[in-house]
Amino acid sequence: MIKPRKELESVTPYKPGKPIEEVKRELGLDDVIKLASNENALSPSPKVIAAITEAAKDINRYPDGGSFYLKKAISDKFAIPGENIVLGNGSDEIIILALRAFVGAEEEVIVSDPTFLVYSIASSVIGAKVVSVPAKELRYDLDAMLGAITSRTKMIFIANPDNPTGSYISRKEVEEFIQKVPDSVIVFLDEAYYEFAEETDEPDLVSFIEKKVSNVIIARTFSKAYGLAGLRIGYGFARGDIAKALNTVREPFNINSIAQKAAVAALGDEEYMLKSVDFVNKEKEKMCNKLKNVDVKVVPSKTNFILITTYRDSVEIYKKLLEQGIIVREMSPWGFDGFIRVTMGLEEENEKFLKVFKGLIEKTDRK
Ligand SMILES: Cc1ncc(COP(=O)(O)O)c(C=O)c1O
Repeated sequence: MIKPRKELESVTPYKPGKPIEEVKRELGLDDVIKLASNENALSPSPKVIAAITEAAKDINRYPDGGSFYLKKAISDKFAIPGENIVLGNGSDEIIILALRAFVGAEEEVIVSDPTFLVYSIASSVIGAKVVSVPAKELRYDLDAMLGAITSRTKMIFIANPDNPTGSYISRKEVEEFIQKVPDSVIVFLDEAYYEFAEETDEPDLVSFIEKKVSNVIIARTFSKAYGLAGLRIGYGFARGDIAKALNTVREPFNINSIAQKAAVAALGDEEYMLKSVDFVNKEKEKMCNKLKNVDVKVVPSKTNFILITTYRDSVEIYKKLLEQGIIVREMSPWGFDGFIRVTMGLEEENEKFLKVFKGLIEKTDRK
């Protein structure tokens, strides 16, 4: 009998947050809110909707495999040549392309623990060995990560800001770290949430990727700040030789034609994106302030979500919230018993969460 490759025996597939429709169906609820998948609660820019409507007429054609106009728009916005840009079906795919291009079976990748689960899942699928370095007080322990490098190490994943902790590493720390990493290792810098980080020292991307010493892939996404999660579109920057390798292993039409047009329109409405980010950051501040009077602890976050220590059974809290039509992320799959992760929703959704959550915490003793 045919069997999948033996590497798959130890792989647990990524489990996304529960979809709204599924919760409505299973619990017979009409009103369900989802604060579980770090999506943008706001719809995309009206210019994006118009571009999608227009693009729909041409879907009998294959997309432009080179995504010419989207690459040009990204190149113009960030002042980076097209040869240094890679596009992915979500930034998830850029992670997969990087592994496929640079990491072989039995070679090592270094991840922080906890961090975004796709790094270790995708690495295990190709038979790579995942070396997990525990975070220190929920922040990346960069020194320990450097210490974990061996002659078999090929890639180090850094999510900045991180998911699920929301923690942030300053640009200076990242640059110092990269300089210490040997030339035989790629640093995969995942900046899926960078627009929310309110950093003033915007990275000098060009010098970052041009420096011959730095084997860096910087991945970003249209899924979060731009609100295009459903279209699956991410982008990355890398030195020419690295970008070329990623493009060699990608599928020819990995970015569908609607996503290409939508992303160009999204980049053309920067003002809308900035307003969206501002809305999320204000909601986050409001929620953090209101949670100060509740017997829980919030981890400071530079993203569109917060991690909360409930000091209670988080599976129970999760289930009780679900019964009230509120989907959050329960963190035991990351080994974080007692924690939940909550994405910022619309104002009224956040209010509803706060009311129900506060009631639950008040009714339940600490464990
Ligand atoms: C740190 C991080 N990287 C990458 C992604 C993937 O984003 P996408 O594939 O939608 O671009 C996510 C999604 O939640 C994330 O949290």
